[in-house]
Amino acid sequence: MPDSCRLDRAVARLSGLSRALSRRLIKEGGAMVGGEVERNVARRLAPADTLEVDGNTCTVAELLAPRTYMFNKPAGCVCADRDGDHPTVLGYFGDLAEGLHCVGRLDIDARGLLVVTEDGALNHAVASPRAAIPKAYEAVFTGTLPSDAAQRCARGVRHHGEDRPYQGARLEVLGDNAARLVVCEGRFHEVKRIFECLGCEVTDLRRVAIGGLALDPALAEGEFRPLSPGERELLTQPWPRGPESLSDKER
Ligand code: URA
Repeated sequence: MPDSCRLDRAVARLSGLSRALSRRLIKEGGAMVGGEVERNVARRLAPADTLEVDGNTCTVAELLAPRTYMFNKPAGCVCADRDGDHPTVLGYFGDLAEGLHCVGRLDIDARGLLVVTEDGALNHAVASPRAAIPKAYEAVFTGTLPSDAAQRCARGVRHHGEDRPYQGARLEVLGDNAARLVVCEGRFHEVKRIFECLGCEVTDLRRVAIGGLALDPALAEGEFRPLSPGERELLTQPWPRGPESLSDKER
């Protein structure tokens, strides 16, 4: 983390405004440093300085920590930094997009919880297959699940397009054509392919949790908000391993 930061950059971070609008806001007396109005846009702030804009207050150290957001991804956008054909997730972040990356991927037609961060270490800790962080999905599908679907998922099904079976996944039936599936690997089209192995086709897929972090129900599709430090920790909460983590139905 840099040990000092220009006021206009800090105000842009805190307010979500562009640098140009932040400079205007500062000149109009809208920013306070250490409780005093500061109009010098180029003033350098130290990590311990407190900044206040529009009633929001925080220290510069908090502001400069790597940003991490929860995004409620709508269908129709891609988890790529750039794409010539489709809208991207980062397009929703506008001026804030610089330096941000998606943590793992959701298919273009999948919706729901996506974490977007500039923290490379956090990205790796959550997305790396080795970390085996559980990801929970709600799927709507056509077809009928076999009666032993939960046991087959728990043991690990193998798709014809894959050279090895999937690791155990937890299936919970929510209705005739809806189920929740928790997977730990993050392989290509993993959820859709597991359902295919069970003779069903997913028609709607929504991620509802990563590790111990659930999608905020107050966040509409296309909206994002910063994660609190506590929420960032929940992201790397692992799935308990071993038979004790399986329900009676799955054993
Ligand atoms: N599994 C899928 O099939 N698609 C996704 O987007 C995520 C997991």
